[in-house]
Amino acid sequence: MNEFPYPPNRLPVLGDVLSLNPGKPVQSMTELADKLGPVYELRFGPMRMVIVNSAELADDVQSEALWEKEFGPPIRRLRKVVRTGLIAAETEDPQWGAAHRVLMPGFSREAMRGYHETMVQVVAELIRRWEHGGGPVDVAGEMSSMALEVIARAGFGHSFTRLDEPPAGNGLPVVKLMVDVLRYASRPVSVKLVDATIGRIALLRHRRNVSELQRIADNLIGDCPPVPAGSPNLLQRMRDTPDPDTGQRLSRTVVRDQVLTFLIAGHETSANTLTFALHALGDRPDIVERVRAEIDAVAGGDPATLTYDQVAKLQFLRRVVDEILRLWPVAGGYFRRPKQDTYLGEHRIGRGAWVYVNLLAVHRDKRAWGPDADRFEPDRFAPGATPRRTAGAYKPFGIGLRSCIGRQFAIHEVMLTLAHVLYAFDLEPDPKYRLSVDEFVTLKPAGLRMRMRPRNQLR
Ligand code: HEM
Repeated sequence: MNEFPYPPNRLPVLGDVLSLNPGKPVQSMTELADKLGPVYELRFGPMRMVIVNSAELADDVQSEALWEKEFGPPIRRLRKVVRTGLIAAETEDPQWGAAHRVLMPGFSREAMRGYHETMVQVVAELIRRWEHGGGPVDVAGEMSSMALEVIARAGFGHSFTRLDEPPAGNGLPVVKLMVDVLRYASRPVSVKLVDATIGRIALLRHRRNVSELQRIADNLIGDCPPVPAGSPNLLQRMRDTPDPDTGQRLSRTVVRDQVLTFLIAGHETSANTLTFALHALGDRPDIVERVRAEIDAVAGGDPATLTYDQVAKLQFLRRVVDEILRLWPVAGGYFRRPKQDTYLGEHRIGRGAWVYVNLLAVHRDKRAWGPDADRFEPDRFAPGATPRRTAGAYKPFGIGLRSCIGRQFAIHEVMLTLAHVLYAFDLEPDPKYRLSVDEFVTLKPAGLRMRMRPRNQLR
């Protein structure tokens, strides 16, 4: 058996706190991989985790027979906020099973078709705001409001804001609450050591934020009308549809946890993906032109007429989205644990050990993706274009039973938004901007501002 490599400056008791930038854990894990190789171990106090950075080793943890979802520190902390929420509950928890069964039909093709018009309306509002705005746009902030509106309106029949009105000065209060809660949840382990002392104030503020978010969710549940004749939204399903297996409805607390889970998991991820995409496309007018040509071909030159089924026909745009999620897998990675003693590459690994698959590194592994793995090149997703890609090499939505339930929702939302934005505007990046990526559970471009120049002004 081989011991896993570990950072040279490991401290007694504290472990590897000097090796990880607590504000950018995934990015510093990726840098460590350059020094320590594709797999290594990190320790923080009593906590140990093995970090996987190559596609080949990521393949090893795919088996659902040998491996299962582990939650890791950020989601374990999030669990204190969304207790029974889908993302945080153990697979064996009957409440996870019930919520999963009740919600799965909410992401079927039929249900997705029902969300399409709402998504179009939200994006159209954003386009109107930008057309009348003129100045540079805070891309991450705007995408965050847009994605929150999409999940709130499509999922819960609720609106937090209108996007064709000027943005609120300090952003939406609900977004600020969620960002603060996520920021607290993603604090590094080293900070945990001060929780009992100066961290107490932060803890009290966090608890107040959580209560406020719960109050917002309770209001949403109370305000949502009964199931209409057509297809129910996500909230109506959770609140009013019995579990097909047990015939029982989800409790009010479980519904509240799911509402918060969807608000959190279903908005930052899509928003950050869109922000990374607009950043990358700002430097690639050639790709933007190809997307526009495809919209011309599929929708006859007017993205507003795109139907649900036509969006799926935008195959090149889909490659753009796949490629941005390869380069910037906004979830950062996922945790796995072996169900029994097994092997990870040539290393023996014990049952229950924590393994973090660092997608930022795996998705740029040159052995799987080729020497230009760091380059934004959507055509690598053309059929047969990346022959060495294996099962674990691309997993932006996680693995198996516990992979992302909102995957189709997110892909449709991101494609639709890009189709509308790229068709309406030329992207003008700030030449002085250099990409800097923040991490609060998800990866997010920091401080990106771009001017959106209406295309019809140029003609
Ligand atoms: C789970 C990624 C959008 C809801 C996950 C997981 C990943 C992920 C990697 C697995 C986490 C783990 O194994 O610990 C993404 C990405 C998105 C996105 C990259 C956007 C580009 C969404 C949206 C929704 C959503 C739009 C809701 C509408 C969820 C939920 C889970 C989940 C509820 C937990 C599923 C379960 O364990 O039962 N997502 N997600 N996600 N996602 Fe997403």
